Amino acid sequence: MEKVYILGIESSCDDTSAAVLCDGQLLSNVIASQKVHEEYGGVVPELASRAHQQNIVPVVDTALKRAGITKDQLSAVAFTRGPGLMGSLLVGVSFAKGLARSLNIPMIEVNHLQGHIMAHFIRQPEEEIDTPQFPFLCLLVSGGNSQIVKVDAYNRMTILGQTIDDAAGEAMDKCSKVMGFGYPGGPIIDRLARQGNPDAYTFSKPNVPGYDYSFSGLKTSFLYNLRDWVAEDPDFVEHHKEDLAASLEKTVVDILMKKLRLAVKDTGIKQVAVAGGVSANTGLRNAFQDHARRYGWKVFIPRFSYTTDNAAMIGIVGYHKYLDKDFCGIDVPIFSNTRI
Ligand code: KG4
Repeated sequence: MEKVYILGIESSCDDTSAAVLCDGQLLSNVIASQKVHEEYGGVVPELASRAHQQNIVPVVDTALKRAGITKDQLSAVAFTRGPGLMGSLLVGVSFAKGLARSLNIPMIEVNHLQGHIMAHFIRQPEEEIDTPQFPFLCLLVSGGNSQIVKVDAYNRMTILGQTIDDAAGEAMDKCSKVMGFGYPGGPIIDRLARQGNPDAYTFSKPNVPGYDYSFSGLKTSFLYNLRDWVAEDPDFVEHHKEDLAASLEKTVVDILMKKLRLAVKDTGIKQVAVAGGVSANTGLRNAFQDHARRYGWKVFIPRFSYTTDNAAMIGIVGYHKYLDKDFCGIDVPIFSNTRI
């Protein structure tokens, strides 16, 4: 049978990425991150979109070269359609549509959030991986989302609960910013937390029903407490940054795991995965391992390289959709909001 080569393209936020898969196995995954946002303490949409325009051609070209194929060998082009920043999405989607049309091959639209979840199925040639069995639960935590998803099939997912305000990553980024650290704050909090006492400080935890999350109260509690402490000691952050980071991280992880335990208990599904940028967090990874030991969960933690935005995860969804002949037309629009 003829081999299926999928080109995946991801441009939903501030990473321009392209990946090539052959029969569902990853041949290349190229990511160009944008440094331009660092000095602003967050992603500036207009700058992101311009950087995507500069990056997209060389990134795709490199992905094809590293995979050792030419564009004429491609079977289809899969691209992130949303959710994400409109200006960023527009660059990847327009490029993908133009390329697919010029090669006269199918185009496949992919939901970015489904991509994060399907990152657990990315496999390199000859690589043996342990993949979740359907149905499984996935805690999807990133800078823009915090949700518990029930995954019945690669294309059948239900959101059981999600944040009613801020995302977990966003809360860590904002708290890092008020302490005067760089962007993104998540990895900085993670690094500092390793040297701190997680029980040094207590911050407020939400009280929302069901499987939903809330992180805005934690953010405010952190901000107000810090303001009082700094009023007494201007060098408070410098003296206590490790303990602050460890206590903040513990609070976020506790909030995330509490609802996940509830979802596992109610659904009886003990296969539990974690995905999205915040799944790189050491405290959260440790909590997953701890729950596996304590409650007999079978947990799935992605490789670091597949936690943040990448096109390999778009390519793997694209491959399954290709097998199902689930193609889209050139008129398919982008979308910015959260949906699965
Ligand atoms: O999934 P992602 O790359 O982008 C989207 O939001 O789509 O996630 C980015 C988020 C940021 O909030 C960043 O601070 C957080 O993931 N993050 C982490 C860590 N690495 C990235 N948060 C905590 N600990 C980390 N090690």
